[in-house]
Amino acid sequence: MKKVLDPCCGSRMMYFDKQAPSVMFCDSRSGISETLCDGRVLEIDPDVVADVTAIPFDDGQFNLVVFDPPHLDVGDGWQVKKYGKLPDNWRKFMTEAFGECWRVLAIGGTLVFKWYEYRISLSEVLKCAPCQPLFGNRRPKGSKTHWLVFFKEGETGSETD
Ligand SMILES: C[S@@+](CC[C@H](N)C(=O)[O-])C[C@H]1O[C@@H](n2cnc3c(N)ncnc32)[C@H](O)[C@@H]1O
Repeated sequence: MKKVLDPCCGSRMMYFDKQAPSVMFCDSRSGISETLCDGRVLEIDPDVVADVTAIPFDDGQFNLVVFDPPHLDVGDGWQVKKYGKLPDNWRKFMTEAFGECWRVLAIGGTLVFKWYEYRISLSEVLKCAPCQPLFGNRRPKGSKTHWLVFFKEGETGSETD
């Protein structure tokens, strides 16, 4: 059984191996294959079409969840085609999405969250997270891209001993 979940996989740009066998690739979009204005081909073909706010897997099923949600809340250009767009009520969406990522994560598992600070700040989006991240790059400066790591402890913190 696959032990890594990417619930918003998009075109898998960040993967060294886009067919990594350990990863369950999901996205709400599928069947997309088109050439963007920069000449690059956008292909979105998840293993499972699913909504990250209603992930169709069991509690605690994955050891690693990689969560890279849409970061745009406005616009309709090529970036929206590539990265998707947050719904108007993005706080509700992000709270539900984080909640689902956390639910399917095993105790002792890791959640990696990627966030590009476009208009919504990291501090605002982290209010939707289930707990504080363990560590990450707080001030990436130029790239504006944050990578944060959350660790799912048990209630006593000793379940994985
Ligand atoms: C920032 S992109 C992910 C890029 C990806 N990490 C990559 O390496 O190419 C965000 C993705 O979230 C997807 N998405 C948007 N709303 C979603 C939802 N409700 N459930 C699942 N995926 C969603 C979009 O279709 C988009 O492909």
